[in-house]
Amino acid sequence: MSEFSEKILLPDIPNLHRIEVYEQNGGYRAIRKALEMTTDAVIDEVKKSNLKGRGGAGFPTGLKWTFMPKQSAKPKYLCANGDEGEPGTFKDRQIFELNPHLFIEGSLIAAYAMGITAVYVYIRGEYVKWIKILQQSIDEAYSKNYIGKNILGTQFSTDIYIVRGAGAYICGEESSLMNSIEGERGYPRVKPPFPAQVGLWGCPTTINNIETIANIPHIINRGAEWYSRIGAPKHPGTLLFGVSGHVNKPGVYELPTGTLLTDIIFKHAGGVKDGKKIKAVIPGGSSTKWILGEELEGVKMDAESLKAYDTSIGTGGVIVMDEDTDVIKVLARLTHFYHHESCGQCTPCREGCGWMEKILKRFIAGEAQIEDIDLLLNVANNIEGNTVCALGDAAAWPVQSVIKKFRGEFENRVIKTPAEKKYIKPPHLVSA
Ligand SMILES: Cc1cc2nc3c(=O)[nH]c(=O)nc-3n(C[C@H](O)[C@H](O)[C@H](O)COP(=O)(O)O)c2cc1C
Ligand code: SF4
Repeated sequence: MSEFSEKILLPDIPNLHRIEVYEQNGGYRAIRKALEMTTDAVIDEVKKSNLKGRGGAGFPTGLKWTFMPKQSAKPKYLCANGDEGEPGTFKDRQIFELNPHLFIEGSLIAAYAMGITAVYVYIRGEYVKWIKILQQSIDEAYSKNYIGKNILGTQFSTDIYIVRGAGAYICGEESSLMNSIEGERGYPRVKPPFPAQVGLWGCPTTINNIETIANIPHIINRGAEWYSRIGAPKHPGTLLFGVSGHVNKPGVYELPTGTLLTDIIFKHAGGVKDGKKIKAVIPGGSSTKWILGEELEGVKMDAESLKAYDTSIGTGGVIVMDEDTDVIKVLARLTHFYHHESCGQCTPCREGCGWMEKILKRFIAGEAQIEDIDLLLNVANNIEGNTVCALGDAAAWPVQSVIKKFRGEFENRVIKTPAEKKYIKPPHLVSA
């Protein structure tokens, strides 16, 4: 791993959100450079950079762009995903706040490369402040002809629109995001067809995360070769790690991929409150599997390295839990979230998330029996891989991992004697 300390997405430059400050610091040079390249050359550069999507699944961005048809009788669209609904994830709003023009410039380059005539930025409605900032920035960019007709005197024209979501986690899933933009209910679509063939309003569409797009101007300006050498070779670049939980300095830290998790927690986020020990860490937003406190030494935060710990980098949302944490309560809270956010389209997720929540509540109430541990695991296993979208998996993974790593805590919470059993109402899998 290279020793890279530069912050490329959120540099410490005062007032960078203002267009003239952004321009003074090299802003909107990358779009000028891209417009002198062929569209294929731009896509090739992104492919060579090995940039992986920052929205959770880590799909290679350049490859995704090649799925868009070169010729299309229909218009082509880019959906920039700023829904940011995953618990523990709060990084994209930092880009809107501190460096919105970097994201706008990245969107313009993506639009040029794929022949896109309209970009829809989908942002959760609760982000009132950030929507306002981004809209102001978009207006400034229109006034300087970076957006609109015949951008910078070329044949390239594109518009950028903000669409507000209504705060449903499922609308961050790419196909329900498109349904939501169309004014429909946020139901995930069955794939295939994939969005590059049949996307927004039936037209070819690419969906990318805000942070993914913000990396593009740097790749064009400084080259794929330079970018691919930052951080972990198979998952290069910097990541915006959103650190929350029992740390002294929660916040968003931009660091190269492959940074040690212990460095993120202790050097950057100020260590654990009151010097307590760490019980567990969720490494990449609430959907990712947990890492035990005693496993943390040497854990590197990149997609490849985390495979060895049976977890993933997700959105880079690091949630730290100290030694006093009731992990069953945390899991029940997360499971309640997934149950609440399930769109209800497929049975394993709709019913299974509810069952998992009920069983977990039995453990909290002291009404669970020993068989409930495997029953809970069985429900999670039957959700995983059996649903239309990945929300089902996202709900199942934490349950599977917490049972695996903290089975003893579940065992300690079950009814142990017939006398105990006498005083509780009989547990039901599905109660009223
Ligand atoms: C339930 C659910 C919620 C999601 N929420 C988001 C989100 O808020 N932001 C995001 O970028 N991706 C989210 N994703 C992933 C998107 O479907 C998609 O993979 C991503 O936007 C693609 O961008 P990328 O390739 O740049 O990572 C979500 C996926 C699921 C299943
Ligand atoms: S997995 Fe859940 S959220 Fe996704 S489509 Fe099925 S019911 Fe809806």
